[in-house]
Amino acid sequence: MSAKLIDGKASAGRVRGRIGDFVATLSGRKPGLAVVLVGQDPASQVYVRNKKRAVEEAGMLSREHQLPENTSEKDLLGLVQQLNADPAIDGILVQLPLPEHLNADLVIDTIDPSKDVDGFHIINAGKIAVGDPSALVPCTPYGCLVMLNELGHKLAGQDAVVMGRSNIVGKPMASLLLSQSCTVTIVHSRTKNLAETCRRADILVAAVGRPEMVIGNWVKPGATVIDVGINRIETPEGKTKLVGDVHFESASKVAGAITPVPGGVGPMTIAMLLQNTLRTFCLREGVATPDWLI
Ligand code: GUN
Repeated sequence: MSAKLIDGKASAGRVRGRIGDFVATLSGRKPGLAVVLVGQDPASQVYVRNKKRAVEEAGMLSREHQLPENTSEKDLLGLVQQLNADPAIDGILVQLPLPEHLNADLVIDTIDPSKDVDGFHIINAGKIAVGDPSALVPCTPYGCLVMLNELGHKLAGQDAVVMGRSNIVGKPMASLLLSQSCTVTIVHSRTKNLAETCRRADILVAAVGRPEMVIGNWVKPGATVIDVGINRIETPEGKTKLVGDVHFESASKVAGAITPVPGGVGPMTIAMLLQNTLRTFCLREGVATPDWLI
């Protein structure tokens, strides 16, 4: 391996540390996050547990609403509206995916956009698309951008390739890189000359959900590789292993800097959730936002 390892766990620790220090200075009520989980999806349960722990460690109020799989849309929308009106709650996160019978877009767009700490509401998506700095930015691309900025490389004019076109990662990531004056290409499952396009990237962000798809010869020598993938695969010994969308061993021989999985983007996503919650709290309470809160 010749690439510099981008330590997301350490970056996330720094972000969480300064958020916790700031929250400790607040004399009145603390920032509050409500997380809504519908059903029993095991991966979602793990994510929700980790978010809850992080919120509590930062000294914030954590509210969890676990609803049964067969919850009606009316009941779920009713809960969201109740949380919109709740003065103790600054951020609302409805864990995705929702069971099939529920309309996720409708549920998300029922969240008060000023409490939409996931940044998924159509108003926030629109603000990101037009480069409005008041947008609440989705946590994963936000974390990727913070890690890129921490590397200290100039972003303006760099060729960035974003693999994946989801509303949660790919599209907002592309918009954020564009607002940093990168030249941005989005590639996806129907793209021609995928490897060749990736090889042109100074910054390659992989968010496709395909285990170890990006191999070393897709990477431009010296490029920065950000791996958003979290895939559970079975090893030949029959054990499960967590891998990204990038084949780390080969890619890290070519890249200039690379995020590992686990320990890269994942921890930053949670840190950015706390940061978004602190931001919405400050706006609601009229508290001056700390200068590190961009
Ligand atoms: N499911 C997977 N990632 C996320 C996320 O960032 N937010 C929510 N709400 N659900 C998710």
